[in-house]
Amino acid sequence: MRSHLRVMTVALAVVITGLAYAPAPAALYIDDDIAKAVKSIADAISSGKTATKDAEALAKKNELMDVMAAFKAKDKGGLGAGAGTVGKIDGIESTIQVMAKKELDKATVKKSAADWVKMADVSRAIAEVAGFYDNKIKDVKTNKPEPKKWKGYNDEMKKYSEDLAKAAKAEDSAGVFKAAKALNDACINCHGDFR
Ligand code: HEC
Repeated sequence: MRSHLRVMTVALAVVITGLAYAPAPAALYIDDDIAKAVKSIADAISSGKTATKDAEALAKKNELMDVMAAFKAKDKGGLGAGAGTVGKIDGIESTIQVMAKKELDKATVKKSAADWVKMADVSRAIAEVAGFYDNKIKDVKTNKPEPKKWKGYNDEMKKYSEDLAKAAKAEDSAGVFKAAKALNDACINCHGDFR
């Protein structure tokens, strides 16, 4: 009886130790439900509807990290920029970074325009969701949320995503460059303070 108990205790200890040392589940690939919700919010916004309720619901259920994952390279688990990819990496973030570097040639703009509109709509949708984390995520310097500052960056992300969609729709290469640069700055500045 006693030895039986000891075996149980050892077994239990092994289980507990195993749990303690199990690696944290890495959110490598964007969750299917999150991807679906982000795309549907993007569609709603692009057809002039407000998707505030859906964005809020998504924000309540998930970590911002797991929503922002949409921006990552496709082979790192993001949505990817598909045929709209410019540069070597198929990812929305990396494509915005390439677009922000210099004005792209007219042929590339014409070929990619429709996919860039979709990409900009996804970015606009994520900004809609990110607005609901203003009181959750801490400024790395002050170590507390800074909702005003957060809203400032987030509003820039909304505006320049919209500008990017408009410029892409118009196949306006100078406008695409300008909007992508401003959008990329919003990403960088917010990450600088909050990530
Ligand atoms: C209002 C602030 C804000 C803006 C604007 C913003 N981000 Fe983020 N982003 C964050 C924070 C904060 C995190 C980290 C979240 C965490 O650690 O919980 C993050 C994380 C990420 C990640 C990492 C996701 C992962 O799974 O590793 C990527 C990629 C990303 N952002 C891309 C972008 C891109 C691209 C833009 C601009 C188009 C952007 N972000 C704009 C705040 C922002």
